Order: sequence, then C-alpha cells, then structure tokens
Amino acid sequence: MRRHHRTTPRTTRILGSLLLVMAAGAFTLGAAPASGEAIPLAQVVPAPASVAAGGSPYRITDATRIRVDDSREARRVGEYLAGVLRPSTGYPLTVTSQGRGGIRLRLAQGPFGAEGYRLDSGRSGVTITAARPAGLFHGVQTLRQLLPAAVEKDSVQPGPWLVAGGTITDTPRYGWRGAMLDVSRHFFTVDQVKRYIDQLALYKINKLHLHLSDDQGWRIAIDSWPRLAAYGGSTQVGGGPGGHYTKADYQEIVRYAASRYLEVVPEIDMPGHTNAALASYAELNCDGVAPPLYTGTDVGFSSLCVGKEITYDFVDDVIRELAALTPGEYLHIGGDEAHSTSHEDYVKFMDRVQPIVAEYGKTVVGWHQLTGATPAKGALAQYWGLDGTSDEEKAQVAKAAQNGTGLILSPADRIYLDMKYTADTPLGLDWAGLVEVKRSYDWDPGNYLAGAPSSAIRGVEAPLWTETITKSADIEYMAFPRLAGVAELGWSPASTHDWEDYKVRLAAQGPRWDALGIGYYQSPQVPWPAR
Ligand code: ACM
Repeated sequence: MRRHHRTTPRTTRILGSLLLVMAAGAFTLGAAPASGEAIPLAQVVPAPASVAAGGSPYRITDATRIRVDDSREARRVGEYLAGVLRPSTGYPLTVTSQGRGGIRLRLAQGPFGAEGYRLDSGRSGVTITAARPAGLFHGVQTLRQLLPAAVEKDSVQPGPWLVAGGTITDTPRYGWRGAMLDVSRHFFTVDQVKRYIDQLALYKINKLHLHLSDDQGWRIAIDSWPRLAAYGGSTQVGGGPGGHYTKADYQEIVRYAASRYLEVVPEIDMPGHTNAALASYAELNCDGVAPPLYTGTDVGFSSLCVGKEITYDFVDDVIRELAALTPGEYLHIGGDEAHSTSHEDYVKFMDRVQPIVAEYGKTVVGWHQLTGATPAKGALAQYWGLDGTSDEEKAQVAKAAQNGTGLILSPADRIYLDMKYTADTPLGLDWAGLVEVKRSYDWDPGNYLAGAPSSAIRGVEAPLWTETITKSADIEYMAFPRLAGVAELGWSPASTHDWEDYKVRLAAQGPRWDALGIGYYQSPQVPWPAR
C-alpha cells in the first residue's frame, strides 16, 4: 500500500425524542426554525449521550449575564462564550460571578468525568455544570448549536435567541478524538492552524496532531540542528517557499489549542519520510552525502542511517527540544512507510528511539507499522489501514492490541480527509478509494478491527495529508462535512449511531458553516436546507 503515490491505481435513541419534537414543532428539522421556535436539544452534533427535552425555553436578551464560578478557568470559558455571542447578538453579556439566572457555568463534583457536562435549560436560565473546565467548554459548544445558525455571524443579527428547555447529559465515548494536519507537504501558518483549531473545537475534538516533518519539509525550529528548519523547511510540494514554526510560533499554537481544550501531539516521522533532514545534514546519511531537497509526492525513498551513532544524537536532540515544547503527554514518532529501511534496522531503530521518548517524559505514538517492531509499554499505534489491508497486517495490529498497545483508529478509506468524496472532487487523492460522507460516518470504532479488544480502542483521528491542499479553504472543503462525523464517532455512544438520524442533524450544520465562512462540500447524500 502506498499512501502518497498519486499514480498508484485505486484499490479498491435520540431519534424518538427528535420525532416527538418534530411532530410538536411547525418546522422541518434541518431547516431554520421559524422565528420563535427553539432548536431541538437533540439536534446537536456530536449526538449527546442523553437528552430530555421539555419545559420552557430560555431567551437570551440584552440583560443576560454569563455567570461563572470564581475560578480562572471557568471565567476564561465564560469570556470565550461571550466572545462567540456578542458580535451576533449585540448584547453586552457581562461575565460576572454575581447575581442569579442567565447563563451559568458551574464547576461541581458529579459523574461528568474529565470532559463531560450537563446542560439544564429553562425559563430563568441555562446552566452548564461540569467537573472540569474542559467539560464546561464542550457544554458551551453544545449551547452554540442550540442557538440559531446566525449566532455564528460576526455582525448583529435580529434573533430571537432561544434555547429549548430540558436537560442534556453528555460524556464522550473515547478520550482520543483527533485531527491531524500535515504541515510538511504544504506549510500552514500559525493563523491558518488557529482557524482549524477553532473549527475542531466546535465538534469537541480534543487532539491536534501536527505532522511536523516529512520528505518535503521540516517545520519546527530545533536549536541544536538549525539547518533542519532553515534549509529543510525552505520548500514544499510543488517547490513553493515552505516555511517553519519558530519555537515561539509553536508555543503560540500549543497555547491557543489549550485554550480550546485541545492537546497538540507533535510528530517527527522516522526513520522514513526524512529527506528534509537528510538534505539538511550530510552526516545523517549512510554515505555522508546530502540528497537534494524534494518537492514531489512519492513516498518510501528516504531513511535515517540506523547504523550510525550520530543518528541517535540527532533523535535525542530533536525529541528533547520538542518534548520541552510539549505540555501534552504524547510524542508521535511516525514509523510508517519505511520502505528504504530493512526490517532488522527498523526494529533496531525503534528499540533505540522509543526509550528516548520515555526519557523526556512522553508517551510514544506511532503509525501502526510500529507493531512490526516491539511497541514500548504504554505506546499507542495509529491504524491507517483500509478494507483491502492484508489479513496478516491487520492480525499484527490486533495482536499488539491484545498485548496492551492502545489503538487510535484512522482507517484511510473512512476518515482520511484527503481522500476525494467523488471522482469529481477537485482536491485530494484517491488511493484508498472515494469516501463520501455516509461511508466516512457509517462504521463502528468499537467493532472495527477483528481481534482487537474494544478496551484497546482509545479513539479516532482524522488525518489530512496536504499534497494537494494549499490553503484554509482547501482544508475546510475536505474536512467539512466529514470531520463532524469523525467527531461523532469519537464522542457519541454507539447506541446513537444512525445514518438516517445523523444526516438530518448534519444538514442543520450547513447554515452554521455558511455563517462561519466555511466552504463545505454539499454532498447530495445530506438533506441540506435550501440556501
Ligand atoms: C500514512 O498515511 N502513511 C500514515
């Protein structure tokens, strides 16, 4: 299987309450509710774990305050919510720890876990309760979706701003709900990454995996090996100028992600996918000769020199500096498509490198080929196979999962966001097949890889490789609407999984994306409201 070789031929209950609400209301779900109607609590994506609709709606007015506990983080979430609501409502929405009613963000003990929340709505106010700030933040995303799509606009809109009455109790199915952005094939600026982070946060995604190095570009400054970024980052696919993040840039991304309750997972892909590093330092090559920079899209032609001691000095320096920039738990070491590294060398390399990650306090993540070596204790493997992946390869991954390696599921023929939707999709690749919205959504992570115990599944992640992706509009066209489905696979209980129900809830996201300036793919599989 070859990921990026473009010439390779293609191988190939919420519903019940929703219906009640629909019967009671004078509007069709998915269309904008008539003025005065509140959006049903069950219309949210990802589907909440439990919804009990009923009672009077709450109306946000110019007197509404956002009330927060006296904790810095609750106040921060309150300010974030105010920042979302003020431009479109035109209301002051003062954030305060005083008074009664209004929108209340409350930290309290309860069965919410690290990310869950409860949202109670009634005549006198909306209260979001969570044990942790991340739960408040996710509850705020739910609240956004309960308001008319126009709430996402950046100019004052007429309202009214009603939140339906009732209670949502919600907690995620999986702790790992990720998106990966390849900033190596094409470089994306800090502002472009922040824009994507904001979009990920809408759907309660909690990991941003940045693919920081590959054959075409090295994108993070490493002080002890300055040519990696300065030279190895100086181009990209197609020969454009590339770019890299300074440490300050990178910290800005990490901070911004944290303010949206996403953890950044940095990846340095090794021992293959390393041409940019090999081009930057001749001594990293077995023959001591630096290859030229590479701006094509082939894969599998580069390898670090497993037999040279300087290779491990290099890896140690890079991991040490990157770990120091990483407040999160994980550090991804790639390990995919090492077609120019012998199996023996691959195993030797991973045996040397994984302990370095541990030495700097991080947990190893690798693409699932890592299971062909000996995954370190606690390591996670990211499965990116497809239906056509050999039984032998699938069994190797399942066996590692039985032996304690956690799995992140990124099946390429389901949730690789760079796969074309149809043969006519102007962007993307098709080596894993054409992936329409229904195919992307309609599978169960808990019961996907035969032989892998469901307890090994840590979650899902949607990678976006960027051979053909050069700007934010491209990211958004490929991610939306599929990203929302990945978020639901990661968050919602399996019992809520139902394409017929989902596609109607998904359709209601269209006007939100329009309001946010997200140019999404208008799949004919989804009953979008008329624009
Ligand atoms: C991959 O797509 N080579 C992880």
